[in-house]
Amino acid sequence: MAEELETNADKILAEAMRVSEKIEADILVNPKKYRVLTGDRPTGRLHIGHYFGSLKNRVRLSKLGVPTAILIADYQVLTDHDAFDKISQNTKELVIDYLAAGIEPGEDVFIYPHSHVPEANQLMVPFLALVSNSELSRNPTVKDEIQKSAMSVINAGMYTYPVHQAVDILFCKGNVVPVGKDQLPHLEIARLIAKRFNKKFSPEKPVFPEPQALLSKTPMIMGLDGSAKMSKSLGNTIMLSATADETAKLIKKAKTDQERNITYDPVNRPEVSNLLRIISLCTGEEPENVAARIGEGGGGMLKSTLTEALNEELRPLREKRAQLEKEPEYIRKVLLDGVEKARAIAQETLKEVRHVMNMEI
Ligand code: TRP
Repeated sequence: MAEELETNADKILAEAMRVSEKIEADILVNPKKYRVLTGDRPTGRLHIGHYFGSLKNRVRLSKLGVPTAILIADYQVLTDHDAFDKISQNTKELVIDYLAAGIEPGEDVFIYPHSHVPEANQLMVPFLALVSNSELSRNPTVKDEIQKSAMSVINAGMYTYPVHQAVDILFCKGNVVPVGKDQLPHLEIARLIAKRFNKKFSPEKPVFPEPQALLSKTPMIMGLDGSAKMSKSLGNTIMLSATADETAKLIKKAKTDQERNITYDPVNRPEVSNLLRIISLCTGEEPENVAARIGEGGGGMLKSTLTEALNEELRPLREKRAQLEKEPEYIRKVLLDGVEKARAIAQETLKEVRHVMNMEI
């Protein structure tokens, strides 16, 4: 049984990778054929895992001219967090990280919190009627989050947030969603909802596209402590907002191994290889070559090389970040402009939805 599931998940991943490659190539030729929709939960500032894994890619896509909507999933925080006191502050921190990384709001690029778009949220009700309870409760990402949850009671929002994520994507007819593979089950639900909605209410002229994932090519960055995932809750990250000195201190404490000679060997030396990969992401040099250059220089030289490369890579971002922190009114304006753009789109979509559903008055 477990094996069967494994191969099924592998098949889904292989198919998603194939589609993703195709879109990646076409997007260079036809950027305007696509609308990218992506987002984060406002649970804190972003770290280098987010930066290399998704932020850089979003900046690249938006610079290619692909219309890009970035949503801040503030409602979604309620599914797995009891505390809500920092949501507003965290939302603004996210905007600062996005702008500092190079997202430039404009006609086709905007950032907004999804709680502020009532017309989009209205789609939740008809969408809920297009999926079954069992489809929602077998979502592997949701199951995993339930298992890891610190909440005393699992609320219904935990089971239904993938439907809300379909709302996030479909209200603006997003057709490309740059995500990590943990989000594939959610995209599957979004496609299911789009397909069923079109078939039931508008078979002649589909209202919604079937959105596809654009999978990040960057391998997952491990935590500095050697954990599989870099994550703020594990305290094994380097925040984008960290100073150069803080970065140096964190890297000094990073886990390596006993062997002096530095080699790139992801299977047997995961921690050392992870640090080499981060250097490679900063400098563009292959990790094998970085390892060969350091060699007998050992862990000390590996860490000083990483510190220098990372601080160099992040310097412009951090300078911009510090500047933006002094401009709260501008940050607020970016959000208000984003909300206005999102609402205009959502109003159009809702009109269309009411029309095909026979709910006009
Ligand atoms: N579920 C995503 C996460 O946990 C955040 C998210 C919400 C999202 N809505 C989205 C991502 C729509 C992509 C598209 O990171």
